[in-house]
Amino acid sequence: ETLMAANPSLTGKTVVITAGPTREALDPVRFLSNHSSGKMGFALAAAARRAGAEVTLIAGPVSLATPPGVKRIDVVDSREMRDAAERAADLCDLFIAAAAVADFRPATVAEQKIKKQDDSEEDVVALVKNPDIVAGIAARSSRRPFTVGFAAETEKVLEHARGKLVRKKLDLIIANDVSTEDGGFDSDRNAVTVIDSTGSETLPPALKTELAERLIEIIAARAFAQ
Ligand code: CTP
Ligand code: CA
Repeated sequence: ETLMAANPSLTGKTVVITAGPTREALDPVRFLSNHSSGKMGFALAAAARRAGAEVTLIAGPVSLATPPGVKRIDVVDSREMRDAAERAADLCDLFIAAAAVADFRPATVAEQKIKKQDDSEEDVVALVKNPDIVAGIAARSSRRPFTVGFAAETEKVLEHARGKLVRKKLDLIIANDVSTEDGGFDSDRNAVTVIDSTGSETLPPALKTELAERLIEIIAARAFAQ
């Protein structure tokens, strides 16, 4: 594989990508999270770098190597990810939200390990909503980058993805059926449909690394082509 595309489509552009899950602490030894592997976001960061961009990758807890030439910022919870994303987005042309941000966090973080009560067979954890990171970036009135989101769905994939495109005011959304073998969270493969206000394009199932190349081409063309 070549290090740099023959015709780098993102030369001179600054790209920020969020990737992986977030972890929301419940007490010193427990957290709420999800099965995101970070593979898609890391593959996009590598592809954007190969396309000539300056890339900042804001990563939740994942066990993946940093792609060559990419600046990585490690974060743990959604509010740290939001703060890092807002800071990095001030200077960027393109923002891609590939992270699986936890939608809720425990309303309080216990200072000590929570003990189970001997006299009760159930317990309840109060949750509060986390900030919507990509919607915050897309809602900017100044220093607003071209903003791309993902939609991980298990049913009515295109309908739900279109709803998110509009609600979050995104420029483009990549819809992903996570109920299929190819779309699974830990899979090396993925099958996606790219949707914007003008229509949609379904890409054939492929390795996440291959798909990332194609997605970066499509995004670069829509974001920056005259
Ligand atoms: N996202 C985000 N911040 C959040 C939640 C989601 O930036 N707090 C971003 C994701 O990175 C993704 C897009 O929003 O690019 C859609 O995420 P998804 O979880 O599919 O959508 P939600 O709006 O959280 O809706 P739901 O989980 O209820 O389907
Ligand atoms: Ca969500």
